[in-house]
Amino acid sequence: MAISTSSASRAAEILSRPVTLNGLTVPNRIVMAPMTRMFSPGGVPGDDVRSYYARRAAAGVGLIVTEGTYVGHESAGQSDRVPRFHGEEQLAGWAKVAEAVHEAGGTIVPQLWHIGMVRKQGEPPYADAPAVGPSGIRVDGTEGTGKAMTRGDLDDVIGAFVEAAVAAERIGFDGVELHGAHGYLLDQFLWAGTNRRTDAYGGDLVARTKFAAEIVAAVRESVSADFPVIFRYSQWKQEAYDARLAETPEELEAILAPLAAAGVDAFHASTRRYWLPEFDDSDLNLAGWTKKLTGRPTITVGSVGLDGDFLRAFAGEGAAVGSIDNLLDRMERDEFDLVAIGRALLQDPEWAAKVLAGRFDELHPYDAAALKTLS
Ligand SMILES: Cc1cc2nc3c(=O)[nH]c(=O)nc-3n(C[C@H](O)[C@H](O)[C@H](O)COP(=O)(O)O)c2cc1C
Repeated sequence: MAISTSSASRAAEILSRPVTLNGLTVPNRIVMAPMTRMFSPGGVPGDDVRSYYARRAAAGVGLIVTEGTYVGHESAGQSDRVPRFHGEEQLAGWAKVAEAVHEAGGTIVPQLWHIGMVRKQGEPPYADAPAVGPSGIRVDGTEGTGKAMTRGDLDDVIGAFVEAAVAAERIGFDGVELHGAHGYLLDQFLWAGTNRRTDAYGGDLVARTKFAAEIVAAVRESVSADFPVIFRYSQWKQEAYDARLAETPEELEAILAPLAAAGVDAFHASTRRYWLPEFDDSDLNLAGWTKKLTGRPTITVGSVGLDGDFLRAFAGEGAAVGSIDNLLDRMERDEFDLVAIGRALLQDPEWAAKVLAGRFDELHPYDAAALKTLS
């Protein structure tokens, strides 16, 4: 396979250094990317979900970002098999997940999620709630199918994120990640395509960032000062892959600066292929720019260790193992601090241990059948 021998010792050296995110020390640079698995009937993560995460922590993942988990708002989700981050039984399930991950030597944050206008016909308990968003417009441009959020709706959603973050700290998680990416609710505010508001939450980039920044600030105020708040964002949207929030570093800074000022401790810059430069005249990727513009620790992601991007996974396609030389070069240059691994870790719970030990010849290609089971 296409990994040079020099990568072996370099990988261990670069990826095994601890890193600090506010009050949290992550034992190494390898993050499990959030991946929706839909194995939590009733929104409750059970024993299988617990072992799935603990297995990866035991095999060297430094920080687990859980699959997206719905905050406690009636319109937050649509599937009864996606875990929820509210409710007694659901939180009891999550507490056991966090405990098992800690026992295995890892750290873990839940990814807090509200899907906004992506919501279609939901299963109970989401069956009757409206899809809500900044302007009632779907990411694909369909108008009039949802509800433009009122002041009361904004407050309810802010409250739901705060309650989930407070619960995360109470039940033993190491921080939270706010899902501001991929065309879901927070991103619908950030993106002009879905945000046509004429009040303080719409208009220029800074105004469109206001809702996300208010959530960050409210969460920041409600959890301990050293409890890390991570913010995930992306240019691309699930239903609009070529969409962009920012065309220039200046525009990106207009979005990121208010979020950093509101209390984001680390950014998670979601791209599909980490090696692509984000703007002209620089080799920096989105995570590289994020770190340069905010000074905050930053996580990169996107086809690490694989040769095909994850959209192909949804189309049922696999991907061959790819080199991580370019990743190591970028980390050596300090372009970003951590790297999130999606499909490769879904496929192989031992991915991190193998890479940290330089056992590259034992890595597996990604096979889309891995989506069918939770192992
Ligand atoms: C099955 C699957 C589910 C995903 N679910 C989420 C999710 O819940 N939240 C999120 O932010 N990203 C989600 N993603 C995107 C991943 O976090 C990651 O950014 C993407 O897979 C690219 O990384 P990879 O190329 O290493 O797989 C998902 C990806 C996959 C393959």
